[in-house]
Amino acid sequence: MTNPSLLILPGDGIGPEVMAEVRKIIDWFGAKRGLAFDVSEDLVGGAAYDAHGTPLHDDTMARAQEVDAVLLGAVGGPKYDALDFSVKPERGLLRLRKEMDLFSNLRPAQCFDALADFSSLKKEVVAGLDIMIVRELTSGVYFGEPRGIFREGNERVGINTQRYTESEIARVARSAFDLAMKRGKKLCSMEKANVMESGILWREVVTEVGREYPEVELSHMYADAGAMQLTRWPKQFDVIVTDNLFGDLLSDLAAMLTGSLGMLPSASLGAPMANGRPKALYEPVHGSAPDIAGHGKANPIACILSFAMALRYSFDLGEEAVRLETAIERVLADGLRTADLMGPEGGSPVSTSGMGDAILAALDDSL
Ligand code: IPM
Ligand code: MG
Repeated sequence: MTNPSLLILPGDGIGPEVMAEVRKIIDWFGAKRGLAFDVSEDLVGGAAYDAHGTPLHDDTMARAQEVDAVLLGAVGGPKYDALDFSVKPERGLLRLRKEMDLFSNLRPAQCFDALADFSSLKKEVVAGLDIMIVRELTSGVYFGEPRGIFREGNERVGINTQRYTESEIARVARSAFDLAMKRGKKLCSMEKANVMESGILWREVVTEVGREYPEVELSHMYADAGAMQLTRWPKQFDVIVTDNLFGDLLSDLAAMLTGSLGMLPSASLGAPMANGRPKALYEPVHGSAPDIAGHGKANPIACILSFAMALRYSFDLGEEAVRLETAIERVLADGLRTADLMGPEGGSPVSTSGMGDAILAALDDSL
C-alpha cells in the first residue's frame, strides 16, 4: 500500500516558520505512530511569483489535484502590493480553491480553557465556546462575473458580482447540515435576504435542503445581526453556514473571540475523489503576518491544528487528531505562550520552534 500523500505549500511571511513546526509533527507521527506520509513541498504566493513570475505554477496546481491533501501556510506581503492584480500572491490561493472546487470551508472557533482570559470579551461569554463556521468558498462575489474596473464616461467604476446558483448553495448547505448532525444539531444560516436577491435564494435553498435533515434545528439570521449576536452571546451558535464574503468577515470575528487568530485552523473540502476522500486543503485562518516574519515569534498552533483537521477529515484518523489537539491543550494549560498570546502586562513568550518542541514533548507523553 502506498502512503497517503501530502503537498506542503509554506508560502510567504510566517508561513515557512509555522510549517517547519508542522513538518516536525508529521515526522513524529511517522516515527512514533507508524503513520508515514509521502510529503512533497512546493511554492505558492509571493514565493512562487519570485521564482516563476506566477503565484501558482501549473505543475504545482497539477500536483495539488493529485495528492490526498494540501497543507498551506500563508500568502501575501507588502513586497507584492504593487504587483498587477492577476499575479498577486492571493491569486495563487484563490486558484487552488477554485480549481480544486473546494466549496466547503470549515472554520472552527474554539476557546481553549487556558486562554479564556485572553479574549477581548468577558470570560463567561467565551469559556467553552465551540462553534463551526461553514463558509462557501468557490463562488459568490469572490468569483462572480462581470468583475473589473471599467471606464464609464469620465470616471472609472469598480464592479464585482454576487452570484450563487441553487446547486452551489445546496451543496455547501448539505455539508453544513452533515456537520451539524455530528455536532449539536443546530444550524444558523446567515445572508442579507433583506437587501440581496442572492440572499433570498440562499435562504430558500437552505430551507429546502433542511427538509432532508428534520433533526437539525435550522434558523436564519441577517449577516449583520449575526455579527452582533456573535459578539453578544456566541455560545447560542453551533454551526453557522454563510457565503464567501460574509464567511470571510464572520470567521475573523469568531476567531478573535477565542483570543488569538494564531490559534485557528481551517479545512477546505470539495467533492470525494476516486479513493473516497474529499479533495482537501488545510490552512491556518491567520495570514502571512509580514511584520513578525523571520523573528521566530509566530504561533504555529493554527497550522498544527490544520494538520489535525487533515488527520480527521482526509485520513479518518480522528483519534490521532484528538491526540494532537490534546497535546496542544496540555502545553497551553502548562502556561506556554507565544508572543501573540501575551497580555498587555507582557511576560516571556516562547519562540515558534519552542512551541513546536513543547507540543512534540506532550505528544511523547501521550504514548
Ligand atoms: C481568508 C483570507 C483570504 C480570503 C485572502 C488571503 C484571499 O482572508 O482565507 O480568509 O479573503 O479568502
Ligand atoms: Mg479572511
